[in-house]
Amino acid sequence: MSHFQIKKVLDLLTHGVYIIGVKYRSKINGMTAAWVNQVSSQPPMISVAISKTHYTSELISQAKSFSVNILSPNQMELARKCGFSSGRDQDKLLDEKFTYQATGAPILSNCSAYLDCTLSHQFEVGDHVLFIGTVIKANSNNEPVLIYKSSDFFN
Ligand SMILES: Cc1cc2nc3c(=O)[nH]c(=O)nc-3n(C[C@H](O)[C@H](O)[C@H](O)COP(=O)(O)O)c2cc1C
Repeated sequence: MSHFQIKKVLDLLTHGVYIIGVKYRSKINGMTAAWVNQVSSQPPMISVAISKTHYTSELISQAKSFSVNILSPNQMELARKCGFSSGRDQDKLLDEKFTYQATGAPILSNCSAYLDCTLSHQFEVGDHVLFIGTVIKANSNNEPVLIYKSSDFFN
């Protein structure tokens, strides 16, 4: 079976659009992700799959914490800004408002909701690293969330 055919079907899996926030010492970064899932209820845990080569992988491994900022439908521009350039080359959160809550990871203002997580496990899986986080704090403004559609971002 062709790689293209498999990719076409994988694109039918439903995801939201998230900004993964991380702070390690003076380095602060935000990265757009779609591959986020809940993996445990007690304790509440989630996974996020991040390419081994991304700056965010390096920072989460060092910081041992990260945030998942759940975007609203009017935040496509932020998703593009954090999804097509690396924090190695520019400060993507420079013009964004954010606070710190439980773990020290940046929590972006104006998002629909957030999960603030401490890193529990990490595994290399293919070309990605699967980061498993325990949710320490979470909040929502009860507004709609942005649903991922690959054609909104990629040809
Ligand atoms: C909508 C969208 C979803 C994305 N989802 C993921 C993802 O789940 N995992 C991943 O590793 N990269 C994902 N990316 C790509 C990264 O956001 C992108 O390569 C980013 O520039 C990496 O930034 P960094 O080097 O600052 O970590 C996505 C990009 C977009 C636009």
